[in-house]
Amino acid sequence: MTEFKVTPWNVEGDIDYNKLIEQFGTQPIDDKLIDRVKSLTGEVHPLLRRKIFFSHRDFDWILSKYEKGEEFALYTGRGPSGHTHLGHILPWIFTKYLQDAFGCELWFQLTDDEKFVLSPQLSIEDTIKYSYENALDIIALGFDPKKTRIFSDISYAKTMYKHALQVAKKVTFSTAKAVFGFDNSTNIGLIFFTSMQSVPAFLPSIMHKKKIPVLIPSAIDQDPHFRITRDVAEKMGYYKPALIQSMFLPSLEGPNSKMSASKQNSAIFTVDTPKQARKKIMNAFTGGCSTLEEQRVKGGDPTVCTIYQYLYILFEHDDEKLNEIKRRCMSGEEMCGNCKKYLAEKVVTFLKAHQERREAAKDRLDEFMISD
Ligand code: TRP
Repeated sequence: MTEFKVTPWNVEGDIDYNKLIEQFGTQPIDDKLIDRVKSLTGEVHPLLRRKIFFSHRDFDWILSKYEKGEEFALYTGRGPSGHTHLGHILPWIFTKYLQDAFGCELWFQLTDDEKFVLSPQLSIEDTIKYSYENALDIIALGFDPKKTRIFSDISYAKTMYKHALQVAKKVTFSTAKAVFGFDNSTNIGLIFFTSMQSVPAFLPSIMHKKKIPVLIPSAIDQDPHFRITRDVAEKMGYYKPALIQSMFLPSLEGPNSKMSASKQNSAIFTVDTPKQARKKIMNAFTGGCSTLEEQRVKGGDPTVCTIYQYLYILFEHDDEKLNEIKRRCMSGEEMCGNCKKYLAEKVVTFLKAHQERREAAKDRLDEFMISD
């Protein structure tokens, strides 16, 4: 059995997502839920249709509220430890779809405090700088400025702090240790931090002075934080936030390698040039054989191929085209080079458009950012 580990600060190994659902105690996204979304909104984003968002807590409850005519708000976030890569924007793309489909207000937290206390290398100035850089990517994705509030913890702390204290008072060190695996060497900033990550789940209710249901789209690794948030929510007079949780975009270097900012070739960053992006894709780990000859005979294995995963998860929405790619790969008709080029063109097209919007976002920060 291969070991894997998923915590908010560390993701390792070959993840068995079904096992993770069991370990974390969340619910799988099933076809019934997907049909419900379809009947409510008329469209289902491929990230949900393909169950990249595969897990939830109380998403059914959120839909029931919505069916009764009650609005809900969205909350998501980003830890600004570096430039944004495609794995980060996966949940944000889905969040944008949810905002459009359900007409939701969105609260977007940038945890410059968290990344400062977490990372030995980053200064406060660094994480503040990356809050700004990451905010440009968020804005570039096209969120509705009338309904979207982006804030960094350091800049919005005065508003958030008294609510964070309310959370902190209800969470013991022994709970934090059990949930996050803290020990005596953990710095006390990190121990307190989960209180700050809880607050935006309550901000819609606080700001509108009534109880508002909140849905948090995120990658599954954030679940431990929100177990705590859900634990304290009702004691503080709010609804428990609902969660909808995604898998991770795999590293370009292969299934057991982590995608991270420190390994530049493992991921495509939104600030990469088309040339850099192409090169990373052309060097990526595939499910192909070691020689063309062998591949013609045996075919490739899409299940372990990062190129296929990128197409499946983000870049090929057309099921027929995707199935054809899979068939040609497995039958040995297609060679990896062509598939790589196919993905590279899609990625470069996305990057060019994104980078234009990202540039334009520099003049639009005021439309989105809030601070004390
Ligand atoms: N802690 C998250 C990270 O390291 C950032 C974050 C804050 C977040 N609030 C969130 C992510 C809500 C998802 C949902 O990236």
